[in-house]
Amino acid sequence: MKTWDEVYAHAREKCNICRCCPTCNGLACRGETPGPGGKGSGSAFVRNVEMLSKVFITMDTITSNEEVDTHADFFGHQVSMPVYAAPISGIRQNYGADMDDLVYTEELVKGCIDAGTIAFTGDGMYDDMFKGPLEILKKQQGYGVPTIKPWAKEHMKWRMDLAAEVNALAIASDIDASGLTNLRKSVTPVGFKTVEDLKELKQMSHVPFILKGIMSVKGAMKALEAGVDGIIVSNHGGRVLDNCLSGIEVLEDIVKAVDGRMKVFVDGGIRSGNDVFKALAFGADGVLIGRSISHAVIGDGAQGVKIYLDKIQLELKEAMAMAGCKRIEEINKEHITVKW
Ligand SMILES: Cc1cc2nc3c(=O)[nH]c(=O)nc-3n(C[C@H](O)[C@H](O)[C@H](O)COP(=O)(O)O)c2cc1C
Repeated sequence: MKTWDEVYAHAREKCNICRCCPTCNGLACRGETPGPGGKGSGSAFVRNVEMLSKVFITMDTITSNEEVDTHADFFGHQVSMPVYAAPISGIRQNYGADMDDLVYTEELVKGCIDAGTIAFTGDGMYDDMFKGPLEILKKQQGYGVPTIKPWAKEHMKWRMDLAAEVNALAIASDIDASGLTNLRKSVTPVGFKTVEDLKELKQMSHVPFILKGIMSVKGAMKALEAGVDGIIVSNHGGRVLDNCLSGIEVLEDIVKAVDGRMKVFVDGGIRSGNDVFKALAFGADGVLIGRSISHAVIGDGAQGVKIYLDKIQLELKEAMAMAGCKRIEEINKEHITVKW
C-alpha cells in the first residue's frame, strides 16, 4: 500500500496546471480560475486555510482508556467519520490532469465508499455533465449526493427526478454558483433563487435537500424558512467571491442561530484530521474536502482516496484522543482555543 506522500507526489507529476504544493493553501495559485486557485486576489482561498491554522486544539489527557469512535450519521446512513468529498468539476481544465470528469467521479465515489463515507458529485452546463455522474451513482445504488447548479426550475426538476430514480441519498445545490458570470451566460443559465423558489425546489426533492454556499446567519435563516434539510457553510473554495470571510469564521454564529433545526456542514481549507476536529468543535455536523481529495483521485484513483481518507481518520482519532473525546458528539467549543 502506498503512502499519502507517494500518492501526492504522483498527482504532482500528473498535473500540468495545479502545482500540488506541499501545503495546498492558495498562495501559489492566487487568481488562477480556471485553475485550482481562488477568485481575483485569491484572498478567500488563502483565508480558508489561514483561519483554520489560528484555531488550536486543547489537550485533556486525564480520561478513560475507552477506544475513540469516529462514526457519524448522514441523514440515516452511518459513515466512518463525518468527512465527505466536495463536488469538483473540470478536472482537466482546473488541474491539467489527463482525466475526464466521468472517470474522476467513478474513482471518487468508489474511494469514498471504500473509506466508509460519501461523495458529493458535480454538474455542468451540458446535460450529460449531470447525467454521466448519475449513471456512476446508479452503479453504486445511488450512494452519493448529486449536486445541482442553480439552473432554471425546470432544469433543476428533471435533475432532481433523475437523482431520485437512482436512489441518491440526498441532493445538494451550490446556489452560490448563481453569480458566476460564465454560468449566467451558459447554454442553460443559472440564476439567483428566492426563499419561495427554494420552497418549491424543496417540494420537488424526494430526498434530503442541502444548500451549498451559505455564509451568513441571514442566509441560514432564509434556508431554514425554505425548509431545507441542511446547509453547507462554504465560500466555494474562494472561487465565487474575492475578499469574503472563510467558512470556519462564520460557522459558530450560524450553528447557534440554526440551533439544531437543520444540519450544518462546512468546507474550505480543510487539510487534516485536526482541521476536521476544529470544524466539529465549532458545531458543524460534518465537513467536506475539495482540493486534497481531487489530488488523491488524480494521484491514485479510488485507492488514493482511501489512503487519504484513512489518513484523515487516523489524525481525527488522534486529535480526539488527546482532547479526551471518545465520540464525535462529545467534541465542542471547550476543546479548542481561537486566536483570531
Ligand atoms: C477546481 C474546483 C472545481 C470546483 N467545482 C465545483 C462544482 O462544480 N460545484 C460545487 O458545488 N463546488 C465546486 N467547487 C468547490 C468545492 O466543492 C468546495 O466547496 C471547495 O473546494 C472546498 O474547499 P477546499 O478545496 O479548500 O477543500 C470546486 C472547487 C475547485 C477547487
